[in-house]
Amino acid sequence: MAESSSSPNASTRLCGLPWPARPDRVEGSLPVYDSIWIDGCAAAASDGERLESVDPASGNVLAGFSAGSAEDVDRAVNAARLALAGSWGSLPPARRGGLLLDLADACRRHVDTLAELEMLDTGKPISAARGDMEGVASTLTYNAGAADKLEGISVPLGREFFDFTEAEPLGVTAHITPWNFPLGMAARSIAPALAAGCTTVIKPAEQTPLSTLALARMAKEAGFPEGVVNVVTGDGPRTGAMLAGHPGIDGVTFTGSVETGRSVGAAAGRNLRPAVLELGGKNPMIVFADADLEHAVESAVEGAFDNCGQVCSSASRLLLEQAIAEEFLSRFVERAGRLRAGPGHEDPDLGPLVSREQYERVRGHLSLAAEEGAHFLLGEPPAEWEGGGFFVHPAVLEPASLDSQVATKETFGPVVTVYRFRGEDEALKIANRLPYGLAAGVHTASIDRALRLSRRLDAGTVWINGWFIGGVQAPTGGIKDSGFGRERGQEGLRHYLRIKNIGIHLGFGNGRTFSAEDGG
Ligand code: NAI
Ligand code: MG
Repeated sequence: MAESSSSPNASTRLCGLPWPARPDRVEGSLPVYDSIWIDGCAAAASDGERLESVDPASGNVLAGFSAGSAEDVDRAVNAARLALAGSWGSLPPARRGGLLLDLADACRRHVDTLAELEMLDTGKPISAARGDMEGVASTLTYNAGAADKLEGISVPLGREFFDFTEAEPLGVTAHITPWNFPLGMAARSIAPALAAGCTTVIKPAEQTPLSTLALARMAKEAGFPEGVVNVVTGDGPRTGAMLAGHPGIDGVTFTGSVETGRSVGAAAGRNLRPAVLELGGKNPMIVFADADLEHAVESAVEGAFDNCGQVCSSASRLLLEQAIAEEFLSRFVERAGRLRAGPGHEDPDLGPLVSREQYERVRGHLSLAAEEGAHFLLGEPPAEWEGGGFFVHPAVLEPASLDSQVATKETFGPVVTVYRFRGEDEALKIANRLPYGLAAGVHTASIDRALRLSRRLDAGTVWINGWFIGGVQAPTGGIKDSGFGRERGQEGLRHYLRIKNIGIHLGFGNGRTFSAEDGG
């Protein structure tokens, strides 16, 4: 596996990028982004605090950016409130859609620059980064079309009354995003929020803030009024927590770990604000003996190792029917063993993990699995980090028991745990035994079985004979500890609307202002 450093000079590469990715300044050789983006202007943090983003392919510092203070979060929320009450709030819905389309066009025009920026910050292969940026443009386009179609209904209460609903924007929405698909995750929540008429404050992950800052610049250029798209960079426990618990926001959308999701949800709950929480998973792919084996193997390779396994809906558990388990594993391990790793600009199959912290987390899981007596079919616990990129070889292992740590906890790396089963009931028992409920999949030639299992699997999404099926139109989200609320599609829009019911007494008849059946 290539473990070369991507670019001793990733920072230089960053400085060479054109607008909207170019840093605000260079200090020594460090590109610096004045990255609190409030009211259409970039500024350093009020208290001068700064963080650094690291190039995952080399372990070297990539860029500096500001760490938002309480005052910065206040200013961003206030700017969003003013914009909501002002110019943005009075814009006709079709104009909001038009601005989103203009922003989508800008993303397409700058796709190479954005992809390069995302690759440098996350470490992901350049063609994957490019695909992500095309997804961002599609997300903006999809939601642009919805802006002027958010219709209410008229409610039949009889001839004395006229009653109707209006879908109002929820208000100022906070968006706390993770580092695995930085701009994709930001776009998938701000696009419906903006289409619905909300104004936004985004707190990107501290590992990968750069593409979100580029988007904010592009939104200004596209003509979004000041204060509609604000970005406060910073870490989670300080900046993120202040935003999630800010009394001036009307809702929060979060994607990330279960643990942080609990704390974001609790902060929103204290203020009685709604939250959308898209959290982790340990997602089972179930392969039956009647499945198209070659196709199932390919699907498992994609599902498990896409984005180096750093995907909340990755196929991280493989459940194999006993009769085909050996055959499946020999093909799967052979395919996984051939995956090429390297720095993003070489467009490998696998990039590095995003950060040293993530490297240590994956290393910890695999070391513990070895101690627990797991059988490694491929890979081994990675060595202690001694500088360089955060590369981890794919690992395929059979856990020592169903209750071992590696069998039950999300790893978020190129790591697959394997289980064997006999019959549907046992497969379901293994699949549903964890507290997670994000995604699940079934490979089988039987449509009856596929549908039976779809209904019984604890998951917000079920894929049949494939993995990662869907797109901007298809809702995604979890049940159980994987969170609540749905993103993407029409479902994703609902969270950014609040329904107002307006009842009119038409002034004739008996003069009652509520219907006879109505208790309230
Ligand atoms: P995290 O959930 O702590 O971070 C995600 C986002 O939340 C970041 O923007 C972070 O700054 C922010 N954040 C952290 N603590 C916060 C707090 N107290 N209040 C408000 N915002 C806060 O995830 P982390 O630590 O980067 O990764 C840990 C694990 O989380 C991973 O190993 C993986 O299992 C899971 N994860 C899941 C993701 C998903 O797509 N569902 C994405 C990223 C991580
Ligand atoms: Mg964390």
